[in-house]
Amino acid sequence: MKHHPITYREIDSTNGEASRLLRKGRLPEGQVIIADYQSGGRGLGEHRWLSEPGKNILMSWVVYPAFLSVSDQFQLSKAVSLAITDFLSRYSLDARIKWPNDILCGGEKICGILIENSVLGIQLSHSIVGIGLNVQQEIFPEFPWKATSMRLQTGLSDAPGVLADRLTNALQVRYDQLADTGSGAISRAYLERLYRKDELSEFADGNSRFTGVIRGVDEIGQIQIESGSSTRNYGFHEITMIY
Ligand code: BTN
Repeated sequence: MKHHPITYREIDSTNGEASRLLRKGRLPEGQVIIADYQSGGRGLGEHRWLSEPGKNILMSWVVYPAFLSVSDQFQLSKAVSLAITDFLSRYSLDARIKWPNDILCGGEKICGILIENSVLGIQLSHSIVGIGLNVQQEIFPEFPWKATSMRLQTGLSDAPGVLADRLTNALQVRYDQLADTGSGAISRAYLERLYRKDELSEFADGNSRFTGVIRGVDEIGQIQIESGSSTRNYGFHEITMIY
């Protein structure tokens, strides 16, 4: 069942607000919290998430994936990433998933994902799926990476709010697929859309740089990189791709 989104003109962070609301009581499965502007938008690690007011999708989607154990939590990230690329493909955008949490179009970042999970025993109890998708913004002055938007890629003029509803539908489809049939098909489709898979790329690992080829992502979400005669798995704190 679909619920009306909780909307804000301005909030510090939709993920932060979702977490505060969840502390007060249960939200319906699939509840969307959405804002025109975030004064303290959060990205992965220490990054901030900056977005011009009213231009982009800034939303958090709340789900209760009790069917996933803690060790399987990256499956949710795969389903979400894939759903975003499904959604973008409807606008003829050939989006790629840059491990672990970016969506790129034409090699530039169009969307960031910040999933915050809460755990009960060895199962996930709730997840706050934060999505920042660039829709109408055209200039990205303070960004430490190359950024793009749906408008820059396709000329589309649809409002972020309308698109957020369609994006939510796409999320629900992949989430239901994960819940109902497990991760097999999702993992295969994810690999097909993985940025620079099977291509020679440059990575930074601590203080050193090396070249290698991404071969896949394992069940716990580590990237598998072949370099020379060996293949090693890395967690997301251990490595960055130079691109
Ligand atoms: C990243 O690329 O580092 C992740 C960015 C995630 C940004 C979204 S915007 C909506 C939600 N609320 C936040 O504060 N962050 C996420």
